[in-house]
Amino acid sequence: MFNAKITGTGSYLPEKVVTNKDFESILETTDEWIYSRTGIKQRHVIDEKESVSSMAEIASNNALEAAGLDASEIDLIIVATSSSDRVFPSTACILQNRLGANGGAAFDVQAACSGFIYALGIATQFIKAGGAKKALVVGSEANSRILDYSDRSSCVIFGDGAGAVVVEASEEPGILSTHMNADGQYQDLLYVNNPIKDQKQEGDQAFMTMHGNDVYKVAVKTLSRVVDETLEANNMDKSDVDWLIPHQANIRIISSVAKKLNMPMEKVVLTIENQANTSAASVPLALDQAVRDGRIKKGEIVLMEAFGGGFVWGSALVKM
Ligand code: UT7
Repeated sequence: MFNAKITGTGSYLPEKVVTNKDFESILETTDEWIYSRTGIKQRHVIDEKESVSSMAEIASNNALEAAGLDASEIDLIIVATSSSDRVFPSTACILQNRLGANGGAAFDVQAACSGFIYALGIATQFIKAGGAKKALVVGSEANSRILDYSDRSSCVIFGDGAGAVVVEASEEPGILSTHMNADGQYQDLLYVNNPIKDQKQEGDQAFMTMHGNDVYKVAVKTLSRVVDETLEANNMDKSDVDWLIPHQANIRIISSVAKKLNMPMEKVVLTIENQANTSAASVPLALDQAVRDGRIKKGEIVLMEAFGGGFVWGSALVKM
């Protein structure tokens, strides 16, 4: 049995930035409301020429470069997204072609904001079982394409971007455990309908609907539990965790999970202020930022967690 180790990280954010102030002219909202309720100041948004796969391509190339690998060496690509370029083929197939990594397995994982954790868990199982040796795991989202910009309670909290990691078979321990859970009884609290229904294009239904306050309450309760379960599964104590990388949905949710871990906020990687909630991309974007700016060092223990529509939630405990 092999270990699975993260050997490179990468990310991409679109150039265009939309600030809270920009929303003040189109919605009944204020910078003060958005910042105090969510911790968000601005978000990145793709332009017409960009796509989920184009962002994934840049993030992936950065991760491959960091791992010192050529795309042709990759034998598994998993893309986590809820805003894919096409219904099919998968964004992973489109990405594979863009990278020139054709031949290995490539598929998408749809687990909303927990998609990256799910994709990382699946890649880990593949590698441990010997089904793949070098995997690319990506979270990429064009949330701006599925938002209703007249709904102030959802459109202000999301942004676009992509993050990627290379996961390789290794002698050394790396991804110590991953945990994936879902409870479909909550499916109507956060969803996007499929625009293709009964063979008709019903474009105006393909926007996100979010009952934010209900989502918030379950997210806080669930994520606090996830932290304990993950540490227990590894016989570790809260004090063993060097860094918390939470899904960046709301600074208030993040703070309550950090408190549960007795973790000072300096040990929590935060991107929410400048990037908002990039769904499946938020955890790998934050990971890449903290690796590249030198905060996360080799050998340190990182706890990642996420929660999203489904509901789906999950965590990963990783030795870098
Ligand atoms: O990433 C996937 C999972 N998603 C999440 O984890 C999101 C979790 N939820 C949240 O982060 C928060 O619920 C929100 C930030 C979305 C909303 O904050 P809240 O404190 O839960 O507000 P609320 O929905 O209870 O609304 C309070 C008030 C309402 O007005 P009334 O009914 O009290 O008059 C809303 O209409 O705030 C109003 N409101 C706004 N006001 C100004 C909602 N959105 C806005 C806005 N600007 N953008």
